[in-house]
Amino acid sequence: MTVAGKESVDLPAGTLNSVLKHTGLKQAVRGPREADVIRILQPNDLEPLVAFFEANNTPDTAKYFDPFPLDRQTAERIVAGDGNLYYVAETTGVVRGFCMIRFWSGFEDATTGLLVGYESRGRGLGVKLIAHVVTELQRLGKNCTAFIDLGNTASIRVVEHVGFEKVGERSKDGRRQGVYRYVCVS
Ligand SMILES: CC(C)(COP(=O)(O)OP(=O)(O)OC[C@H]1O[C@@H](n2cnc3c(N)ncnc32)[C@H](O)[C@@H]1OP(=O)(O)O)[C@@H](O)C(=O)NCCC(=O)NCCS
Repeated sequence: MTVAGKESVDLPAGTLNSVLKHTGLKQAVRGPREADVIRILQPNDLEPLVAFFEANNTPDTAKYFDPFPLDRQTAERIVAGDGNLYYVAETTGVVRGFCMIRFWSGFEDATTGLLVGYESRGRGLGVKLIAHVVTELQRLGKNCTAFIDLGNTASIRVVEHVGFEKVGERSKDGRRQGVYRYVCVS
């Protein structure tokens, strides 16, 4: 066979796959593999967490975290411990995902927030993280609420995967309209 005047070379079956695998090109094409450890945030996660926050601190992601700035100051505060629970998904020391359970005085339910790094999205990590957190909440005997912006389809699908149900819509703070309230009953 010729393509644009070039003759092709016949390779034994599987050669191309083998070359891609052994040169690391296969991994490069597919992107980083899924995070394999989900665990509670620890003090030595500070720098990987700062790197993760900074890499994902773009307007289209940060808007879902207002008022939780994705910056070093926030990372330092939560690593030091602020009474809430934080989890990371990491692969060999690199943070790929982050999930939080926050407890508010005067508010019965805990609330949750979830972030998967750009390069790890669409591989099921969001569902894995939230499933881990729901299991933890069940252990604590707590219900959990997720406030999710209208139009955040990915986030809605993730929480619905683990049994959250839509219970209503509300204005988040009087300024932003159209926030779904999802509740997961333990
Ligand atoms: C929302 C988010 C956590 C999803 O993480 P993820 O690891 O990419 O999600 P998953 O791969 O586990 O996908 C779960 C489901 O969402 C769907 N999904 C993922 N990204 C999607 C997108 N951009 N649009 C529509 N659906 C999407 C998947 O198809 C899958 O549904 P299915 O199994 O029914 O096909 C991630 O996109 C993110 O961090 N976004 C920015 C921050 C954010 O919005 N956080 C939530 C607000 S607190």
